[in-house]
Amino acid sequence: MVKVLPASRDERADVRVENASRYLKHCYVVERQLMRTLAAKFVDTSQWDFKRQLAQDMWETSRHADALRTRILDLRYPRRDVDKKYIPEMLELVAECAKGSDPTEFIGGVYGVLLPELLRAYETYLDLTDPLDDAPTIYIVRHIIADKQTQIQRMRALVEAVNPGLFEHTTAWQDYLRQFCAAVGGISGLDDPAPKPTAHPLAGRPPYEIGRSVRRDERWRLALFHLPHENKYDVEGRKAWQRIEALDKRVAMQVWSAISHFNEIWAAEVVAASMWDFDSQPWDFYLDLARWAWDEARHSTMGYRALQGWGWDVPDLIPWGNALYNAMGPMPPIQRLALLYFYEDGLLRAGTKQIELKILESAQDDGSAQDMDFDWADEAIHVSFGYTWLRHLLGDSNAGKEELTRLTDEARDIVARFVAEHKDDPEAKLAPYFNRLYDIIAAMLQDIPDDQLDIQWAPVVADEEVLKA
Ligand SMILES: [Fe+2]
Ligand SMILES: [Fe+2]
Repeated sequence: MVKVLPASRDERADVRVENASRYLKHCYVVERQLMRTLAAKFVDTSQWDFKRQLAQDMWETSRHADALRTRILDLRYPRRDVDKKYIPEMLELVAECAKGSDPTEFIGGVYGVLLPELLRAYETYLDLTDPLDDAPTIYIVRHIIADKQTQIQRMRALVEAVNPGLFEHTTAWQDYLRQFCAAVGGISGLDDPAPKPTAHPLAGRPPYEIGRSVRRDERWRLALFHLPHENKYDVEGRKAWQRIEALDKRVAMQVWSAISHFNEIWAAEVVAASMWDFDSQPWDFYLDLARWAWDEARHSTMGYRALQGWGWDVPDLIPWGNALYNAMGPMPPIQRLALLYFYEDGLLRAGTKQIELKILESAQDDGSAQDMDFDWADEAIHVSFGYTWLRHLLGDSNAGKEELTRLTDEARDIVARFVAEHKDDPEAKLAPYFNRLYDIIAAMLQDIPDDQLDIQWAPVVADEEVLKA
């Protein structure tokens, strides 16, 4: 016999750092994979309202994964390395969720099953752990819970507005995923595992693969391009645009920046696809790209909001192109990223954003100016993301730099060839859009005092030589 004091208080014997970090790693692995899956499904979803919601939830998920990861590292790293030995059952669970056969089934599965399962895991964690000893985790988990609840409510409201019955129509898929969750012992891994639902009629689908081309929302007409600078062969489109330009450079900038922002969705798609295509990069790669992709989806939404703000029927009036992403379809992922970086870096270096902002301020269009101002801030971050991660992927040597130039030049050739191949397609013609728009714009114009703004702006850039000039 030995002598001890009675326990100072009653506690469960299993509330320990080791168990906490194991539990949180389950959640981290699910969040990390969910983030990558949401990124890929964002690319594969054409319905605009769902698409932009998936982008936001993808970014929030990256924040959740990051907070958990940081906390796991707090818990006596390196006893548990967050980014080694991803728990196979958790990867499998998210991989099953990705197999939703279309965006509606995917949404039904994630928002109807996976997120509620994550919430259950987080709530169980709060029940199990100690509010004093493990206070930093509690702070994080409470915030994640609040976000996830909002995500579910927001998506349910969207479903109600856009596709009522989505959850009811996908019950078989949800049922399958619920059984799959049970088979891995829940996300906590603490439940007794049920048998795998291998006999379920929806079991055994092939692994999900991201699409190499995108479609736009069915409410829009098919369009390859959105503004005349993309397609130098479209002479009629350029002329139709120049009529709008002739109204006033301020008017042209207001319209140009809104259409251009709205069409930045391709940049979001390129970055989001990279989050899926690259599967074993350092964590910060995903964190940065999640932000980058969501920013571009926000910029697209900025344009949409501005166009709607003028009371326009956006699907009827505004071209929403898919040429850029689709031209890049055959490229390896790194080449797509290299091309996007080339475009963004070029815009920033040319001081284009400052000029655009000045003209919008001169137009006294506070909404558009505000959008452009925040966009400019985001773009500066993107260029640093591109610089950092392309250097990481290609190496910091001269050979790496040369390879970046080679990839970029080749990518620009591929895009130029795509444009040439499609120049005569009916979807490549922009004149009908700008002619319709011209009458609407002309009828809305109002007078303001002339501030004598003396800035030359030449948005119709057909090729490199003009850009240089
Ligand atoms: Fe952007
Ligand atoms: Fe950007």
